[in-house]
Amino acid sequence: MTRNRVEKTSCTLLGLGSMGTALARAWLAAGHPLTVWNRTQARATALATEGAQLADSAAEAVRANTLIILCLLDDASVEEALAGTDLTGRDLVNLTTSIPAQARARAQWARERGARYLDGGIMAVPSVIGVPGAGGYVLYSGSRELFDQYEEILAAPAGATYVGDDAGFAALYDVALLSAMYGMFAGAAHAFALIREEDIDPASFAPLLAGWLAAIAPSVRQTAEQLRSGDYTRGVVSDLAMQVAGTPTFLSTAEQQGVSPELLSPYFELMRRRLAEGSGDEGLAGVIDLLVR
Ligand SMILES: NC(=O)c1ccc[n+]([C@@H]2O[C@H](COP(=O)([O-])OP(=O)(O)OC[C@H]3O[C@@H](n4cnc5c(N)ncnc54)[C@H](OP(=O)(O)O)[C@@H]3O)[C@@H](O)[C@H]2O)c1
Repeated sequence: MTRNRVEKTSCTLLGLGSMGTALARAWLAAGHPLTVWNRTQARATALATEGAQLADSAAEAVRANTLIILCLLDDASVEEALAGTDLTGRDLVNLTTSIPAQARARAQWARERGARYLDGGIMAVPSVIGVPGAGGYVLYSGSRELFDQYEEILAAPAGATYVGDDAGFAALYDVALLSAMYGMFAGAAHAFALIREEDIDPASFAPLLAGWLAAIAPSVRQTAEQLRSGDYTRGVVSDLAMQVAGTPTFLSTAEQQGVSPELLSPYFELMRRRLAEGSGDEGLAGVIDLLVR
């Protein structure tokens, strides 16, 4: 019998919704001993046949391991699930989506109960959890010590990216990235609306749109450099004056295609305001300052 097998970290997972179940399967597949608890116990029984230990209560699940991972609906469900549990000496990793203030308050709450705390924001859907190379990852913030100690188990279901010791940062990065996604969806919705009534196959347009978005996306690095240096003219090729001059083309085309400009107009309005402040030789980074109140 070989004795050189590396002991895998054991953990407790509270919450077996669609995301929690995917996480549980990934940890079991990676060989981590797992204790699970779910408010509705029926959802946990399938996992027992796959090797998980079932706990009858959250308190029992918390007693079973030092590392406690939560993947519940929202912060209120974390409060409810952990009420009456003894968290002394426990390491909490909370993958429940929350807002930054909730994550910071939850970190303080955990400290007051003698637990270390790491917050997480999942940038993935359940179907890519445990699929190597699928691109999903989890943002982590809070105790660096805790992240380093458990990095191997945390990285088993998806990539693990630490973004700072402020417990609220994972939630903030999560919302910032998803906000950019919605901006992209808004632009794509307008683009599809423009071709909607024409004899154009959306399926033939889609690859052009996807390629264009991918080609433009790296420009955010230049925006970051401009924000960092405070010089919003750095490396600008298409300046604000030129871009504002082009906006009537977009609005007239939308009108002629019978498409509402309601998704584009607010952004164009910010570009015009920045130009009116005398920033015609900048790129678009100045719009960011107009948004910060
Ligand atoms: N699914 C995704 O694509 C995705 C992607 C990124 C992040 N997330 C985040 O991952 C977390 C879980 O998502 P999910 O998709 O697994 O959601 P879900 O399928 O709706 O499951 C919600 C889980 O929370 C539990 N729960 C709800 N209220 C509770 C309470 N008061 N006390 C104890 N347990 C409670 C549910 O238990 P019952 O079974 O008893 O109802 C269930 O285990 C959420 O914060 C979500 O934002 C999800």
